[in-house]
Amino acid sequence: MSKIIAICNNKGGVGKTTTVFHLAGAFSEKGANVLTVDLDQQRNLSGLFQHRYASKTIYNVLVDDLPIQDAIRPTEFPNISVVPASADLKNHRPRSRW
Ligand SMILES: Nc1ncnc2c1ncn2[C@@H]1O[C@H](COP(=O)(O)OP(=O)(O)O)[C@@H](O)[C@H]1O
Ligand SMILES: [Mg+2]
Repeated sequence: MSKIIAICNNKGGVGKTTTVFHLAGAFSEKGANVLTVDLDQQRNLSGLFQHRYASKTIYNVLVDDLPIQDAIRPTEFPNISVVPASADLKNHRPRSRW
């Protein structure tokens, strides 16, 4: 059975990225298959996994309706994958519904 854990806080520099990185490592060492999703335009988690400049990102999933499977990248760590973030996330404004 899969579980989803979201690490979010509006304040920067409080340990969000570090927490995700090490939780992924701990869960994978326990035998879990871990998918991490970087939703921060700073892309620091993507960078830790060597995918800071990915061509397909969570931005394309959210804005361009790219299937998320197409944005998943392997990492150097066994059983840890990442959907990288994009710097474009900081520029996006949703289209008005009115
Ligand atoms: N438990 C901790 N103890 C000491 N320093 C930490 C700890 N967790 C994170 N840091 C450091 O604090 C800084 C900010 O952490 P980071 O995970 O990048 O925060 P965020 O993702 O919330 O911006 C980094 O330099 C990181 O290495
Ligand atoms: Mg961060």
